[in-house]
Amino acid sequence: MAEQTADLVILGGGSGGYACALRAAELGLSVVLVEKDKLGGTCLHRGCIPTKALLHAAEVADHARDGGRVGVRSTLDGIDMEGVNSYKDGVVSKLYKGLQGLVSSRGVTLVEGAGRFVGDRTVAVGDDRYTGTNVVLATGSYARTLDGLEIGGRIVTSDQAISLDEAPQRVVVLGGGVIGVEFASVWRSFGADVTVVEALGHLVPSEDEFASKLLERAFRRRKIKAKTGATFAGARQTDDTVTVALESGEEIEADLLLVAVGRGPNTTGHGYTEAGLTMERGFVVVDEQLRTNLDGVYAVGDITPGLQLAHRGFAHGIFVAERIAGLAPAPVAEAGIPRVTYCEPEVASVGLTEAQAREQHDDVRTVTYDLGGNGKSQILQTSGAVKLVQAGEDGPVVGVHMVGSRVGELIGEAQLVYNWEALPTDVAALIHAHPTQNEALGEAHLALAGKPLHTHG
Ligand code: NAI
Repeated sequence: MAEQTADLVILGGGSGGYACALRAAELGLSVVLVEKDKLGGTCLHRGCIPTKALLHAAEVADHARDGGRVGVRSTLDGIDMEGVNSYKDGVVSKLYKGLQGLVSSRGVTLVEGAGRFVGDRTVAVGDDRYTGTNVVLATGSYARTLDGLEIGGRIVTSDQAISLDEAPQRVVVLGGGVIGVEFASVWRSFGADVTVVEALGHLVPSEDEFASKLLERAFRRRKIKAKTGATFAGARQTDDTVTVALESGEEIEADLLLVAVGRGPNTTGHGYTEAGLTMERGFVVVDEQLRTNLDGVYAVGDITPGLQLAHRGFAHGIFVAERIAGLAPAPVAEAGIPRVTYCEPEVASVGLTEAQAREQHDDVRTVTYDLGGNGKSQILQTSGAVKLVQAGEDGPVVGVHMVGSRVGELIGEAQLVYNWEALPTDVAALIHAHPTQNEALGEAHLALAGKPLHTHG
């Protein structure tokens, strides 16, 4: 049994935990980072990175299939999942090596093992105890399922879906949120017949309704079937098929059922409740400074209520490290966190939806700029639009919503506009390069500032 003390002990080496460790070490703190699996967590090994590699392979498949649209003779001969997986795993392992190197070069003590928070600012790993002046809990999230819907065989979550041996021919995706539409997009590009079943009235229901409708239209064109407002009644499987039943009486037969009904906080079995942490619906309750109810104990990322995004985890981790080191960082504002869904076409947004803005402001103005007027989008053969939401005639832009191929890359400017509380005239005065898709953001601001160029105002 060993006892070790440090300025900071972190439980969980995913986006929130490792970002906190790296920043704290950079600020001169001694850091112990406890991780039971692989450094990098869900994002690197089972989430963001592998899924975006799959989406890139999907894009290449689309280009091969659709080359004729731009006069390039090409055909899609098929999907070699072994090849796709080896490309994807190569990307992950290179990043993983880089992260391991970074953590060790910054002098962070990595403890490999399952940690348990035992109170008194202490994390136990087996018989060893690590006590920090401060403790950060960063145990992340897991893929949820529904009561009575057991994961196994042909019923999978994203954990299994990222490394299938074969591309499925027929798939049902339960849940039309972020994970659901991203996998639906991948499998459709790989040639599958895809049906998305969503309980609420729209796909990506947390987005502005404008974005949901454009995505639904694009998915219809791609022949991805979306059953919205549908109630799932159950699923049964044999060796060869899975059959999904809806409350309407309809049954859908497929090779695979992906359950993508949300992620839950990974907070059980780590000693949290026993140590006296205040919990709510499984999440650790924190204040704006990410402090829990226990002195010197913080929680970051997916175990705290709010958006479950890797870059929110990074921001939380950095914030806590700086706070502990005696700096005075600004708290992470939830509405300023950019959101990107990487399906084809992509959906990207920051700030308030129009409906949220109307709840908060008396006078809300919006402008929608169609990518039909954007040269680069026409070159790329994508349709979509940019929508801006303005609070008051002379007020700032409080929401940016975009749909179209590659619009995720435009979120960088959009998040500056939102977070710097830019006025439409501020952005309209800036020159956007031609021909870029980014120009569409510039044009939308020109229109909102009352001087549209390639629109009818
Ligand atoms: P989600 O919350 O985005 O979507 C779950 C969807 O399932 C919702 O639309 C919900 O209405 C629906 N649903 C729930 N119960 C249902 C039922 N019984 N029948 C039919 N539909 C039902 O959760 P998701 O997609 O599982 O993703 C989990 C988290 O991971 C999200 O917070 C997401 O932000 C994050 N993530 C982010 C990505 C990104 O930033 N690109 C990529 C993938 C995940």
